[in-house]
Amino acid sequence: MKISPTGQVKDLLKTVPLFAACSKREINLLAGIVEVEQFAAGAELCREGEAGLGLFIVMEGETEVKVKGRTRRKLGPGAFFGEIALLDGGPRSATVVASTDVKSMLIPAWSFNATLKSDPSLAITMLKEVCRRVRTSDSSLST
Ligand code: CMP
Repeated sequence: MKISPTGQVKDLLKTVPLFAACSKREINLLAGIVEVEQFAAGAELCREGEAGLGLFIVMEGETEVKVKGRTRRKLGPGAFFGEIALLDGGPRSATVVASTDVKSMLIPAWSFNATLKSDPSLAITMLKEVCRRVRTSDSSLST
């Protein structure tokens, strides 16, 4: 179910670690383009092999990242996913399922790519988190 972005979106964005270093201008820009959506427990937010439309940020609830049906990681509030298809334009590398009711934000690919170009520090923060996940991918199922 889609719900309209409100003034709350700006406050939510400020609490997301990925956007901690963003300027007021960038937060305002992002707040104008994000789509806030709610998913019931069990719903798929994205599916392995399908085209990617953008970057998700979990606002409330828990999600599970599954590769070939196997749970690889759990992502909760403040975590992001969907960066791989966004960056390389390829298909989704995993299915992400809501394990509880989930509220998320989706930043469409075209606008996020434009934001990344104007703020390279955002790209660096995102890449550091991706590196952390790769380093811990065998031993951890937590965020
Ligand atoms: P993307 O491939 O666009 O869509 C699925 C997302 O799941 C992917 O981007 C990553 O954000 C996330 N993902 C895939 N594999 C893992 C993993 N092993 N650990 C954490 N997140 C992952």
